[in-house]
Amino acid sequence: MWKIPSETNFIVFDQERIRQSFIMSENSLIRLEQVTKEYALGETMVHALRGLDLRLDAGEFVVLLGPSGCGKTTTLNLIGGLDQPTRGHVIVGGEDIAQYKADQLTDYRRRKIGFVFQFFNLIPTLSAAENVEFALALNDDARDLRQRAFALLERVGLRERANHFPAQLSGGEQQRVAIARALANDPAVLLCDEPTGNLDADTGHHVLRVMRELNRAQGTTVILVTHNAAIAPMADRVVRLHDGMIQNIETNRAPQAVEQLVW
Ligand SMILES: Nc1ncnc2c1ncn2[C@@H]1O[C@H](COP(=O)(O)OP(=O)(O)OP(=O)(O)O)[C@@H](O)[C@H]1O
Ligand SMILES: [Mg+2]
Repeated sequence: MWKIPSETNFIVFDQERIRQSFIMSENSLIRLEQVTKEYALGETMVHALRGLDLRLDAGEFVVLLGPSGCGKTTTLNLIGGLDQPTRGHVIVGGEDIAQYKADQLTDYRRRKIGFVFQFFNLIPTLSAAENVEFALALNDDARDLRQRAFALLERVGLRERANHFPAQLSGGEQQRVAIARALANDPAVLLCDEPTGNLDADTGHHVLRVMRELNRAQGTTVILVTHNAAIAPMADRVVRLHDGMIQNIETNRAPQAVEQLVW
């Protein structure tokens, strides 16, 4: 048993049990098979992804790393059902979401996925709690919205800022509100696109720590996209993309604590 050192309130979980539960899973949670994505841009065709094969297990913390334009956001959007591949399969929980129709994709996103973006995308006229409530209200269960929003803000260490508007919060705090909002549907997978791209190092560390804790304590699968190689050591696995292809995949036997990351 281990305890998570932080101001946030997490239940103490048995790390070995979490590890076993995904080692024993026969099928990966997410499988990309020969995925290509092409965008027609006037006369030219942009080859954003050129045949990706990738397997991600439930409970993993994965960093998707690579230079600008290599296809990171495209990959994340395909996994999140925000976009569909030109060819290939995106199999999540045994179902090929590349075959889904628009309403099935909407349903999939609502039930399974949480998104965190670089620029937070909070609604400026709503308080932190209301931003989270808004996301909670999109789900089928409209009971106790305020109370549940407070509980989610508590999880990211922001209960005392619940009534602040985004403009009254620091960048890091806004990003933590965005994480609380992303957790509204209790997602199996949290997709984060450059979540620290707009933050200084200290604030970025705080945001990464919250993500790491969610991953370890809740078993939430986290896929974090970044061009910042300094984040890679905290991951269970690092997938390097180059020019729409996988360059290499590295397993960190002993992922580093967020506090040890330097940039
Ligand atoms: N909607 C689109 N239409 C045309 N081309 C696109 C579109 N979206 C992405 N691309 C192109 O596909 C390639 C991959 O883009 P993607 O956004 O996945 O890169 P990225 O790795 O996320 O880059 P960055 O680090 O700059 O965010 C790029 O060449 C980009 O210009
Ligand atoms: Mg991108």
